[in-house]
Amino acid sequence: MPTRGALSDEEESLIAEVIAYYRDKPTDPGYQGVFEERYCNMFCDLLGGGWADSVATGTASLYVALQALELPKGSEVIVSPITDPGSMSAIILNGLSPALADANPGSYNISSDSVRAQITDRTSAIMVVHAAGQAADISGIMDLARAHNLRVIEDCSQA
Ligand SMILES: Cc1ncc(COP(=O)(O)O)c(C=O)c1O
Repeated sequence: MPTRGALSDEEESLIAEVIAYYRDKPTDPGYQGVFEERYCNMFCDLLGGGWADSVATGTASLYVALQALELPKGSEVIVSPITDPGSMSAIILNGLSPALADANPGSYNISSDSVRAQITDRTSAIMVVHAAGQAADISGIMDLARAHNLRVIEDCSQA
């Protein structure tokens, strides 16, 4: 795993800005507040468009993403084997079944070949982790997903 600097001076000053803003308000931050909206807009700009919403944890984001796809109950989600237990929890709590694709030799990530080996007629989606700062072969996996009409969720928690 590469070392990660989670909080720089910039993050620290942004957190201080949020605390200062809410210190004078007679309410707690709640949901869909001004800072959340700013964060979501900046995230969309970074990605070049689209729509974003934020949640409190990585597990919650995977849970919500799977809910939004309305996958058939009991269907299989192909998932990376090197990940956080939250990946499996989100799948199981949605009434779906995890199917582990193998990691590539020399990498922490799954590939189109290892995903292909797990596709069955019950597969509905692929959950790709970009592990330890290394990007998975998302182009190859997307080609495979399109060919089999599968939905794809990217988990960039470790990117
Ligand atoms: C790849 C990956 N997915 C999901 C999670 C779950 O995130 P959280 O602990 O915020 O629920 C983590 C946490 O480290 C993670 O590394």
